[in-house]
Amino acid sequence: MSAPTTVKGLDQAPTSHAGLLAWVRDVAALTTPDRVVWCDGSDDEWKSLTDQLVDAGVLTRLNAEKRPNSFWARTDPTDVARVEERTFICSVDESDAGPTNNWMAPDEMKRVMTELYRGCMRGRTLYVIPFCMGPLTAEQPMFGVELTDSPYVVASMRIMTRMGSAVLERMGDDADFVPCLHSVGAPLEPGEADVAWPCNETKYISHFPETREIWSFGSGYGGNSLLGKKCFSLRIASAMGRDEGWLAEHMLILKLTSPQRKVYYVAAAFPSACGKTNLAMLEPTIPGWKVETLGDDIAWMRFGEDGRLYAVNPEYGLFGVAPGTDWRTNPNAMRTLAKGNSVYTNVALTDDGDIWWEGMGEPPAHLTDWKGRDWTPDSDEPSSHPNSRFCTPINQCPILAPEYEDPKGVPIDAILFGGRRRTTIPLIAEARDWVHGVYMGATLSSETTAAAAGKVGVVRRDPMAMLPFIGYNAGDYFAHWISMGKGVDGDASKLPRVFYVNWFRRGADGRFLWPGFGENSRVLKWVVERIEGTADAVDSPVGKIPTAASLDTDGLDLTEADLEAALRVDADEWRAEIPQVTEWFNRFGDRLPGVLWAELDALKARLGVE
Ligand code: GTP
Ligand code: SPV
Ligand code: MN
Repeated sequence: MSAPTTVKGLDQAPTSHAGLLAWVRDVAALTTPDRVVWCDGSDDEWKSLTDQLVDAGVLTRLNAEKRPNSFWARTDPTDVARVEERTFICSVDESDAGPTNNWMAPDEMKRVMTELYRGCMRGRTLYVIPFCMGPLTAEQPMFGVELTDSPYVVASMRIMTRMGSAVLERMGDDADFVPCLHSVGAPLEPGEADVAWPCNETKYISHFPETREIWSFGSGYGGNSLLGKKCFSLRIASAMGRDEGWLAEHMLILKLTSPQRKVYYVAAAFPSACGKTNLAMLEPTIPGWKVETLGDDIAWMRFGEDGRLYAVNPEYGLFGVAPGTDWRTNPNAMRTLAKGNSVYTNVALTDDGDIWWEGMGEPPAHLTDWKGRDWTPDSDEPSSHPNSRFCTPINQCPILAPEYEDPKGVPIDAILFGGRRRTTIPLIAEARDWVHGVYMGATLSSETTAAAAGKVGVVRRDPMAMLPFIGYNAGDYFAHWISMGKGVDGDASKLPRVFYVNWFRRGADGRFLWPGFGENSRVLKWVVERIEGTADAVDSPVGKIPTAASLDTDGLDLTEADLEAALRVDADEWRAEIPQVTEWFNRFGDRLPGVLWAELDALKARLGVE
């Protein structure tokens, strides 16, 4: 297949990487864009790109006094979240995708998608985005190149990843990279006017784990289109981690300093829209404790030579849930955003060119809502989509830890798993050992949220908060977690301690029992004191629970009854979980590690279940 030499820009490649050049040429020949642009990541490029998006009506420039160099975007109302139904793991063998992923054979998927891609960039520009997940100074930088016909994606990738000329330079002539092909799937006829948010009803988010490729079609939103994020850094990277002995996880990373100035690093996996960004930037309410941020969504964890597990955040920005973010809940996110240089998607616009969303104090008398309609406090619908997001550079976060740029990462002391459950799951429980911790992660459950298309509030198993992101058979993934428990050279003594938390338990009246947000520092303190061996715990059938006295509640406005209810392990509620967990484990057949069945059996015995 030879490319039409008429495609403008194709021959202006600032690289002699033969593999990259050949791939871009092939994609241009297939998708027939009007021109090719090689992104350099410069300020000039950002300026011309955002100017062009503002002129086209895709972005609205916000009030420069309040939100410098920041923009408001509205999507098509049908393109607002990840589409799990349309997300595929195309391993050669179906069993390698496992029972939790959609699967299609790679050659079949490529046949189908090649026909969708044919001519799909007509009338548009093909942007080439060289990017690197994790520091560019890493011994083996993790390169990707995204080809996209969406300038919104280019602007977002510039915030979310290290991208541009420096990456291309470091790639040299022959570095491996993950090819990430993306199209909104909306070709333009000559003279046809574009819409503000082009997309296609037909959507595919496809991953080829064996060949480490990503093909995305039809959506311009979030995890569907910013391919360095969930597609590369979780789905493809998890398959790399399986093969190479490391972990790619849906986890925040935070640094905690005690009043004694001792430093601890904590990683925490909560499902989408269940509190990672908030915990990552938490402002402790207890005196003398300090939290700094390393990451809010993704952690890559490898063993260091010292046998400890080190975590790196591969991302360069924050793509956070907007609603609920406020000075009272997450002041550090507010400070990060106040510095500007951000893109807001599907929030509301104020009359003076600022943004607003639900949870941000008193609503103004008039807004333009996320669908572009007039909105007043009397309107029936929320002004912002529940999955509306801010996209902002992480280095604007005032509490970013300096270790963030260290390619070695930080040694993790504790891993928290958590979900959104109205009942059953106590505020915190400590695992007895690594295998029990893996059991907690493997059986993690949470109510679905607006971060994915589909029904909200349905309890589902979301193992390690990775259900939509495990790039291979989840049974094998559990086995990989178990095998990580052997540590380096069989020394498991330096592994992180594992805990299971739930900020979302409610009382009979529907209230949250635990105040959450900054008050979660009290739970982090208990974690540290467990590591140091200074806090009491009681053994329960499901793990070690704080005694009411061991949790620091000084100055906290919380009744004893609410605290007791938040910490309670109700045997009846847990017995009701057993059939669900059994059914869940049965789905994996012989790919489920036997030690997890043994954990379930031991739990049943403790609960007195046959
Ligand atoms: P993704 O970016 O989708 O992966 O989400 P996330 O895990 O980073 O979730 P985030 O921190 O953005 O929180 C999602 C929602 O949960 C927001 O509306 C928060 O206000 C709310 N939330 C976060 N932490 C707490 C908490 O401790 N208690 C309560 N009640 N709500 C919380
Ligand atoms: C999530 O859904 O977990 C997110 C947002 O962090 S997205 O980038 O859309 O995946
Ligand atoms: Mn996430």
